[in-house]
Amino acid sequence: MREMKVGLIGFSGSGKSSIAKEAEKNGYKVLDSDEIISKRYNIDINDLILSGREQDFRQMELEFIKSVLDGDGQFIAFGGGFHRGHPAYNELAGFEIKLVFLKATFESLVKRFEKRPLLSLLGLQEYRKLFEKREPLYEKASDFTITVEGKTKTEIFREINGIWNLISH
Ligand code: S3P
Repeated sequence: MREMKVGLIGFSGSGKSSIAKEAEKNGYKVLDSDEIISKRYNIDINDLILSGREQDFRQMELEFIKSVLDGDGQFIAFGGGFHRGHPAYNELAGFEIKLVFLKATFESLVKRFEKRPLLSLLGLQEYRKLFEKREPLYEKASDFTITVEGKTKTEIFREINGIWNLISH
């Protein structure tokens, strides 16, 4: 039987990678999309997007997703661009994967943005519009939603662990 997976989705700053790290500390097999793509293609994702090659990056994400669905990773942190409208979404059909949306308001996320290429390219107003456009698409794609605002990493991980226990038995 294929191993069950949990995919973490949500906008930049929602904590996908740090929750995945927490899962790793707790003994789960974890894969981080951005981390693996940068290593696999030896690229800096920020530079790639800033140089106008976002579509190339989306293709890399698609390849990444195809390559991990059949593997033994248990938690996958997707990039913020993964949602119902991403070309890779349809690849998930037929696989044992449940998506968890880490939900937060734009206001709370803004405080946590570090170097985000799409923010630099779009400016804050348009980036907010992107957030508003994506939010329903994360909702539609996900099987579970966790609101992350005001919660610690440990608390969020505990909730995700609960989901894992629910779906993997
Ligand atoms: C992106 C989010 C980033 C990264 C890339 C594109 C997006 O991931 O994949 O810069 O489209 O919002 P994080 O969500 O980890 O910041």
